[in-house]
Amino acid sequence: MCGIIGYTGSSNALPKITKGLSVLEYRGYDSVGLAATTEEGIVTVKCRGRIGALEERLTALSLEGCTSGIGHTRWATHGGPSDRNAHPHQVGRVTLVHNGIIENYKEIKAEMSANGVEFLSETDTEAAAALIDACYAASGDPVAAILQATARMKGSYAFGVLFEDRPGEVFAIRQGSPLLLARGADGFYLASDLTALLPFTTEYRCLEEGELAHLSPDGAVLLRAGGEKIIPAWIRSTMTPESAQKGGFAHFMCKEMHEEPEAVRKSVSSRIREGLPDFSADGITVDFWRQITGVQIVACGSAMHAGLVGIDLLERVAGIPATCHIASEYRYHPPLAAEGTLVLVISQSGETADTLAALRYAKSVGLPTLAIVNAVETTIAREADRCVYTYAGPEIAVATTKGYCTQLSVLYMLAAAIGHGCGRLSDTDARALVRAVSEDAPAAMAEILSRREELCELARVLAPHDHVFYIGRGVDFAMSEEGALKLKEISYIHAEAYAAGELKHGTISLVEEGTPVIAIATERALYDKTESNVREVQSRGAHVILLCPADMARGEVSATDVVPLPHGSEAATLFAALATVQLLAYETAALRGCDIDRPRNLAKSVTVE
Ligand code: M6R
Repeated sequence: MCGIIGYTGSSNALPKITKGLSVLEYRGYDSVGLAATTEEGIVTVKCRGRIGALEERLTALSLEGCTSGIGHTRWATHGGPSDRNAHPHQVGRVTLVHNGIIENYKEIKAEMSANGVEFLSETDTEAAAALIDACYAASGDPVAAILQATARMKGSYAFGVLFEDRPGEVFAIRQGSPLLLARGADGFYLASDLTALLPFTTEYRCLEEGELAHLSPDGAVLLRAGGEKIIPAWIRSTMTPESAQKGGFAHFMCKEMHEEPEAVRKSVSSRIREGLPDFSADGITVDFWRQITGVQIVACGSAMHAGLVGIDLLERVAGIPATCHIASEYRYHPPLAAEGTLVLVISQSGETADTLAALRYAKSVGLPTLAIVNAVETTIAREADRCVYTYAGPEIAVATTKGYCTQLSVLYMLAAAIGHGCGRLSDTDARALVRAVSEDAPAAMAEILSRREELCELARVLAPHDHVFYIGRGVDFAMSEEGALKLKEISYIHAEAYAAGELKHGTISLVEEGTPVIAIATERALYDKTESNVREVQSRGAHVILLCPADMARGEVSATDVVPLPHGSEAATLFAALATVQLLAYETAALRGCDIDRPRNLAKSVTVE
């Protein structure tokens, strides 16, 4: 939700900022801008639209000699996408970019207006610029001004700040929104995400809440609220610039789907010892699992859909009660938690504001917390009592694919570890489950990915429609939710998921001649029941695409089309169904000419509540 970049050093800042912004666009892409220090002072260039529009304006201006600056790519919250509302915002001597929401901005704006500030935008950010400028006017000290002003702000922020009379210096501070610093051969950087900096450096350090960063061409200094100054200890990332490139695929989403089998293997293999589930490398011992009496899973969007599958795994495999909650609802209607209840938060980005708020709530009432996170060193990863990383690598496409499937794989391993650790799952069954996830599931996904042409044909069925239904029972209902979300998100086709047996209680009235219904039936025990539901809609004219184990597909099947899935184990079939619904959504969106990696109105990392 908004991307920030900043640079100061000995090289031209503009290509670095624009390059960084093009990588950060996945965080928001309705407007874009930058401010650079020139000999004539700070120049701000910003516009509605994407990085290409900004580059056109920069070409027209031909700015020279800019060796420091800040940039921003926006996902609008306060004030629609427009040139005026685009960042950076400038008030007096202060120019800044912001990611987050200043909740008390109206109060600050009113106070600043009374002092004669004339606001030009509808944003909350401009209030922050005015307040920092007012504090700077009073103290003449940029550090004191930022600290005094932010102390009065409620909400979340990551700021990159320039002062008109401090050329070459970039200041940064954050609360609740991500920001990191980096050191390159020719200067110092700040960014919302390391991927934006990979073209320049891999040496970084996360900015902690309460720290203020002061960057200049000569160095980076961190200042803590008590006045303590520290020189950052840099961490070297193993990511490469290629991690954030398309690698010959038409879209990041396509590349990321093709990375799924390997991502699952990686996420699982480090948690296997002698064929059994083992999380000791994550600092979690069997004793910990034994203390757990139940699990509340909390997440948003696709991560929440992974949690829906997690309920089934934890109850059936691990034998403990589990529930799954939408993170944005959790703290307003907290479910009762018996002694020993673990709160398990799931987040690819590790920065989702709703999930973070739920995590903080759970901690505040004394519940033990565990996070499944992909992006390393992120807020959720650091704030949870324990963290289990998925090893999907950077995910750039807004629609999650490898992030989701690795969450699922780790949930399988957690359920196996708890079940085995608590003596409810035998050695033999635990080994079989581990093998299914570590070997069968990646192989099954790879097989589906190799059948792209077949799925492209089926996408032709979906592409002309405005409404599609997904049905399934048990975990297949959870998978239907994910399939429907994927299709809606990137193809803009309205899609709804229903428990297969529920459709007949009302919604079936929407089924008419040709209505596409995607039926997922990976659970053998439930196959016959789902088959009956397929017949119900098929006989009312629906075009049913049935996803089921290949051996089932060989019998008499009533669906219009069948996608036979690899059937080594139920886990493998479920992962194959996942790859199928992802690929179907992708090919459908491609046929409809959609902007697959950057669907309208969305952003990758949702850092506002
Ligand atoms: O980063 P997170 O896993 O916390 O994100 C949660 C959701 O915002 C995310 O899964 C979203 O639903 C995806 N865009 C779906 O593809």
